[in-house]
Amino acid sequence: MYTNKEQKEFFEASKKLLQTPTATGLETAKEQVDKLTDVLVFHEWKYYVQDNPVLADFEYDTLYKKLEELEAHFPLLVRTTSPTQRVSNDLTENFETVVHLTPMLSLENSYNAEDLADFDARVKKLTGLETEQPIEYCVEPKFDGGTIVLVYENDKLVRAATRGNGIAGDDIIANAKAIKSIPMRANFSKFGIHKAELRGEVLIKKTAFDKINAKKTKEGVAVFANPRNAATGGLRLKDPKQIAERALEAFIFQVSYATDEAGKDQLPQFETHNELIELLSAEGFKVPKIDKERAVCKDIAAVAKYCEKGEAEREAYAYEIDGMVVKVNNLQLQAECGMTNHHPRWAIAFKFKAKQATTILNDIEYQVGRTGAVTPVARLQTVDLAGVKISNVSLHNEDFIKEKDIRIGDTVLLERAGDVIPYIVKSLSELRDGTEKVVTYPTNCPVCESDLERPEGESIWRCVSPTCEAQIIGRMVHFVSKNAMNIDGFGEAYIQAFYKENMLHSLADIYQLDYNRIAFLEGFGERSAQKLQKAIEASKQNPTHRLLYALGLRFVGRTNSKILVAEIDKLQDLANWTVEQLCELRDIGPKVAEQVVDSFSNPAVIELLNQLEELGVNTTTTESEKKKEVAEDAPLANKTIVFTGKLTKFSRDEAKEMAANAGGKAVGSVSSKLSYLVAGEKAGSKLKKAQDLGIPVLTEQEFLDLLSQ
Ligand code: IVH
Repeated sequence: MYTNKEQKEFFEASKKLLQTPTATGLETAKEQVDKLTDVLVFHEWKYYVQDNPVLADFEYDTLYKKLEELEAHFPLLVRTTSPTQRVSNDLTENFETVVHLTPMLSLENSYNAEDLADFDARVKKLTGLETEQPIEYCVEPKFDGGTIVLVYENDKLVRAATRGNGIAGDDIIANAKAIKSIPMRANFSKFGIHKAELRGEVLIKKTAFDKINAKKTKEGVAVFANPRNAATGGLRLKDPKQIAERALEAFIFQVSYATDEAGKDQLPQFETHNELIELLSAEGFKVPKIDKERAVCKDIAAVAKYCEKGEAEREAYAYEIDGMVVKVNNLQLQAECGMTNHHPRWAIAFKFKAKQATTILNDIEYQVGRTGAVTPVARLQTVDLAGVKISNVSLHNEDFIKEKDIRIGDTVLLERAGDVIPYIVKSLSELRDGTEKVVTYPTNCPVCESDLERPEGESIWRCVSPTCEAQIIGRMVHFVSKNAMNIDGFGEAYIQAFYKENMLHSLADIYQLDYNRIAFLEGFGERSAQKLQKAIEASKQNPTHRLLYALGLRFVGRTNSKILVAEIDKLQDLANWTVEQLCELRDIGPKVAEQVVDSFSNPAVIELLNQLEELGVNTTTTESEKKKEVAEDAPLANKTIVFTGKLTKFSRDEAKEMAANAGGKAVGSVSSKLSYLVAGEKAGSKLKKAQDLGIPVLTEQEFLDLLSQ
């Protein structure tokens, strides 16, 4: 329907419109209304028909609001094709079309407590209530799946449809029958109801989704982008057997129609929306559970609180949700509110901050760390993601770029879930125009130009040159950093400057700086030189665990450093320990032990420590250090953790060791007291149990991110 070129044009036009202020003059307003209409129609096709959106929900909503605003000011400009004039269309030609008993509208969106308060004020105005009179609302998750509309007649399920264009949808009764949570019969007649129309959302549990994708990966076929796609795609399958395999579930969230045999409305016998949901629950329908997933709130302030709670717990929820839906609880008040062409005036969606956004990948830069590891970092056109401006994102390694077929100039989909570091979900290849460049991974160090090495079985390319400037500077930056020697005011900029001036060659030089000379360097002065001297002098008295950590040995983190120094009198004594002896220490595993033995058998390390000692740096452990327990501020201090499923980034033993190094304890079974569960591929019953108990579930990457905090 749209060529790749057109898709790219629409995408770019959308980004431009997002940045253009809303027009005020008639002529520019017409231009904007036309553009917005076309652009939104395109995005609706991507979202509803192709199940492959290229704009983040938040961006789409912003454009939608812009159009609404313009249309409100210039009603003559409203086009009949405007998405504000009809609900979006997901009708396909594969199914019979059936007309809904009542039109299925969209929802208005809100993003914060202020928007909710405005909504509350509007409801009061519409219903003639006083400002100070509280309105009771029922709040539920906004499920992110596919809508389903069910019709029951004579207590039997007789029809099921997709939302379609809101007036009519695709008849998918055969598919609905394959969804086990949809009752085939329900006793509506005991309420005098002959015909009822119910609305709900078809979803896939996140765990079931992971299983489906894992199976697809194994079979070598394309995976689903997200659970929503798997669910909406599932609804339109032609083979009910395949549907059953997809483990679809249906949550019902509304009774939109109920009449007796004579066609008389039976809804007035019920007082509230919540009561209807309870009734559905009693009749065997799956509904959002009271208190846990759904709440009756006494006023809009309580609504805002419940919405915030929903957002905070979003990741732990077993299904994908993208917001909460706030509904006036009293059905009589709902009727008084009425509706627009687009949405009911008695309900509003509270949208969670966008987890996803699209942007352009302008370039890739390769950073060399203190261990020589080369990390590709994408430079992005700055974009707002869940309230944070993002302009760089790590591409991890060569395989990541290859697997995702990431090219320079590509439009990429970014995601940031919870507090997790943002990452690239995928490249949008359909938006390519041929100017994008395939990435050629460097074979030489971008800093010192020596050959890079990639040891077999590892994913990282490394610069192994001992004279590589990036590594030397990286080691120094780490040495002076807050968690290491904590030299106040000494950071990368100073190190770069002194290095350029030939004042820094080795870590020991940090304690032999010529402050008189520094005072004369550009950008410095006597005062800054004195301040620096004071901070460097003070660091000489640091406890030895800081010095050990500052050396930057692989796998020797802050917690390990504390454990190790507690066993010795002097840092250099570590040269006398064997791997076996070290492994006997609590929480020290073979990887750490080997690294320590390896490093301390290197004469250069001992010489460096001796040199530092001569310069006045403390290398003797104090009594208090020896007694000290693992730091309270270690990332996993006092936390328990279960690893389950197939881990791909590290082995089970490595994972346990890493957890221990960070102050945590790996345990075997899931209980309500568990702090985290790390789920690898094909995680099974433990994952399910953790989700049922509401225990935070982490991916391997999220676990690594947590450790590096
Ligand atoms: S109430 C006006 N409640 O959101 C129709 N909708 O309508 C009343 N959705 O695609 C909708 N969770 O499928 C309502 N708890 C919930 C919902 C919900 C998800 C979807 C619905 C529709 C869209 C807006």
